[in-house]
Amino acid sequence: MAAKILRGPQDAPIDPLRDKTVAVVGFGNQGHAHALNLRESGIEVVVANRRDTPNGRRALECGFEPMNIPDAVSDADLVIIALADEAQPQLYLHSIAPNLKADAIVGFLHGFNIRYGLIEPAADVGVILIAPKGPGRTLRRLYRQDRGLPCLFAMHQDSPKSDAEAIGLAWANAIGCARAGIIYTSFADETETDLFGEQAVLCGGMSELILAAFTVLTEAGYPAELAYLECCHEVKQIADLVYQRGLAGMYQAVSNTAEFGGHRVGPLLIDDSVRQRMQHILREVRDGTFAKALRQDYDRDFTWFKQQRESARSHPIEPAGETVRSLMPWLSEPQDSDSLSDPSPSGA
Ligand SMILES: NC(=O)c1ccc[n+]([C@@H]2O[C@H](COP(=O)([O-])OP(=O)(O)OC[C@H]3O[C@@H](n4cnc5c(N)ncnc54)[C@H](OP(=O)(O)O)[C@@H]3O)[C@@H](O)[C@H]2O)c1
Repeated sequence: MAAKILRGPQDAPIDPLRDKTVAVVGFGNQGHAHALNLRESGIEVVVANRRDTPNGRRALECGFEPMNIPDAVSDADLVIIALADEAQPQLYLHSIAPNLKADAIVGFLHGFNIRYGLIEPAADVGVILIAPKGPGRTLRRLYRQDRGLPCLFAMHQDSPKSDAEAIGLAWANAIGCARAGIIYTSFADETETDLFGEQAVLCGGMSELILAAFTVLTEAGYPAELAYLECCHEVKQIADLVYQRGLAGMYQAVSNTAEFGGHRVGPLLIDDSVRQRMQHILREVRDGTFAKALRQDYDRDFTWFKQQRESARSHPIEPAGETVRSLMPWLSEPQDSDSLSDPSPSGA
């Protein structure tokens, strides 16, 4: 089943947003890039953020006047919700929904809260999603280079009086994504594939694979720095190759020894038992078990989550990593990577 894809700004005219006001609620990783790109595309933008936080101060530095949420959304035709996912339900209920103007369209960057029914917009509110496939820093950098990140587009409900799809495509154009491509999807598919991908591969799977390999090498008596270099540091070289050329292209670029070893050992490691556990992970994403666990822990001030974060930080791989990275101080320079976690609006 192939997705519908729009390729190029000509398929996503910016005009439907020209005489409109956009409120970007949240000036973090994604919010700063949306606000700045929209403004530079000639769209009227207001920003909502707490003023006394690093993001609030950055919004000021970027020439916005961070407003409170009710004031920012009350005149907006499109309200982009760039808040942390877990903070959205309460803020939507108490600060956004009661202050939306008639015919407003609400835009999400991730489908989580709609998919799991944690936000239930009124029937007369258009509800769309634009999910750029990368961090805000990359969205911003590519926009400034006249390029763009691809994005996903989905519509949960149309607006009775405005064309929510046309507004969504104009938004995608104004942040640069239409230069790459706009891929049609649904809130459910975006949410489920996104959660599954980050749990099974990108965050959960990859981290545990690295830690397991690091432990095997160090317990066998190899130096921790060597284990870190081989099983963690070099992930970037391979990830960059996969990113640029795909899996087959990566295998073409590495040595025959590396390719032979990969083909021989990969399927032994990732066998049917792993696939069965992946299917279990997918079931928990689809039936809402994961979303419920996240909400429950958030309601307990993320007690479990904070414990896991602390224990990960004290793993023996961390000092080894610090030693290795100290040999390459240039690694922390912003231009060398579009960090997923650093929300600072470089290039603002
Ligand atoms: N990060 C990514 O690469 C990425 C990619 C695609 C989609 N998304 C989606 O984009 C959305 C935003 O994520 P993000 O990564 O940009 O988040 P983020 O960098 O963590 O920024 C979160 C924003 O939410 C605000 N916020 C959090 N709790 C709040 C509260 N209780 N009251 C008021 N404001 C609060 C923060 O304000 P303060 O600055 O005042 O704390 C900040 O402006 C999410 O739906 C996410 O799933 C993210």
